[in-house]
Amino acid sequence: MGIFGFFLFLSLAAADRNVPGEARAAKRCYCDLQLSDGPFPHQQLEQLYSISESCSHRLNVQQFSEPIEIIANIEQKLKELVKRINEFKEEYDGELYSIISFRIIEIEIAELNELLSQLQQKCSQNNDETTDLDIQVQNITSKVDEMEKYDRLKVVKVHRRNVILQRSLTSCQNALLATPTPYVSPQPGSCSFGRLKAVSYPKSSMLNHYGTSYNYGSWGKDPLPAPGKEDQYWLVILSNSNRYGTKIRVFNSYSKFLSKSGHNDVTFQTHNPQGSGGIMYGDAYYYNCFNLGKLCRFNMTTHAVISATLPFAGYNDKFPYCTLSSCYGYTDMDLATDENGLWVLYSTEFNFGNLVVSQLNATDLSLLKSWNTTLFKRSVTNAFLVCGVVYATRYINSEIEEIFYMFDTTSGVERNDLNIQFRKVLPGIQYMNYNPQDRKLYVYSDAFVVSYSLTFE
Ligand SMILES: *[C@@H]1O[C@H](CO)[C@@H](O)[C@H](O)[C@H]1NC(C)=O
Ligand SMILES: *[C@@H]1O[C@H](CO)[C@@H](O)[C@H](O)[C@H]1NC(C)=O
Ligand SMILES: *[C@@H]1O[C@H](CO)[C@@H](O)[C@H](O)[C@H]1NC(C)=O
Ligand SMILES: *[C@@H]1O[C@H](CO)[C@@H](O)[C@H](O)[C@H]1NC(C)=O
Repeated sequence: MGIFGFFLFLSLAAADRNVPGEARAAKRCYCDLQLSDGPFPHQQLEQLYSISESCSHRLNVQQFSEPIEIIANIEQKLKELVKRINEFKEEYDGELYSIISFRIIEIEIAELNELLSQLQQKCSQNNDETTDLDIQVQNITSKVDEMEKYDRLKVVKVHRRNVILQRSLTSCQNALLATPTPYVSPQPGSCSFGRLKAVSYPKSSMLNHYGTSYNYGSWGKDPLPAPGKEDQYWLVILSNSNRYGTKIRVFNSYSKFLSKSGHNDVTFQTHNPQGSGGIMYGDAYYYNCFNLGKLCRFNMTTHAVISATLPFAGYNDKFPYCTLSSCYGYTDMDLATDENGLWVLYSTEFNFGNLVVSQLNATDLSLLKSWNTTLFKRSVTNAFLVCGVVYATRYINSEIEEIFYMFDTTSGVERNDLNIQFRKVLPGIQYMNYNPQDRKLYVYSDAFVVSYSLTFE
């Protein structure tokens, strides 16, 4: 059942227009929506749809003539219902219209119920072989009932609150938009090549070397390799409770990586890496130290570890990356590399759970410079940097992810209207990092290691 709550913080501190890098951070909307099921039991509906499909398939196989029409009818209705609910979910503009749409859905559910009881009758009139089907039909019926109850009790109420929330957010957004739109330079960032234009199809993808049960991990290639390690690839999986890893696996070449042969495992003696935000840079592995609000650096040659507090950073799932339905565990601190060196993406209470980006001194892990953004960290799947520009993605569907946001640390320009979509191998994205040396994007996606090439304008 849906647990619903929201907080709205509207901060309108005076912005110092003379400091372009920080000015945009002064006004922000902050909204924390907790909907464990969403406003409508969408998953149940999809489940229902698939049960009814399989039921229909089985009936077809068994050559029952009569119920097929009913089943086809139900399928059609369910399809329409899914479509309608998707529309319903998107139309938050007016309360009246939403209530009318809701009424249509209610009528459709009632019709479905009628069809289902007909079907049940038909099925039970048939012989003993149908008992299994009978149970399935009963299951469908009871699920529809459940959904109907859910509707009456929850959806309208929750939806109304959504509308109110939406209004508050809109007025908050309007306040933000009232500031003059900042000038967008044609070439954002610190590099000579221009704006990020596109992400390729997945260039290479394979299951990670440890197997399907490891949904969290990171991998890549050191953009600043030590002599003799230029062709090395590395892989770290969170082998313990999807929370922390115990070793780094390195391969001396890409072909070895692909053939899963000749690896070398380096084990952490202290400070295991927590979360899937770690990266290799300059022959050291940088990561969030286990159970601490600190960053760690593991020297790949000496295996010595140093650590330093990341000031005010949330950790242990305080500010993870999320999709609408769930969060990626322990993704509070996300290390990143680009043409300018080493960065960390995280969040603080000071910045209301919005993304903070800091450039790091790779030697002592101190912060060289920080920027507060207005992007709520829990509203993005993951983020990376190219040429000093932060790019963040959001989940569109199980196959498509979209880069929708950028923050240019060189100009302070922030935009959330980018529309750079790319295809995923699997729905989840636990890790993303850009390698400025080969200009590839390295991704860990539900136990698969994937890379993409990037196109710039
Ligand atoms: C009916 O639903 C129950 C609980 O959801 C499930 O365990 C059972 O397998 C279902 N039966 C059929 C025939 O689908
Ligand atoms: C690792 O340690 C060695 C020996 O102290 C040092 O020369 C090297 O610079 C260190 N590397 C990093 C990345 O700290
Ligand atoms: C990074 O830290 C080291 C050691 O504290 C210091 O010597 C160096 O100047 C710092 N680099 C920058 C760019 O601040
Ligand atoms: C970020 O916001 C916090 C809280 O308002 C402030 O203390 C901090 O100085 C800001 N940082 C930057 C780099 O603007």
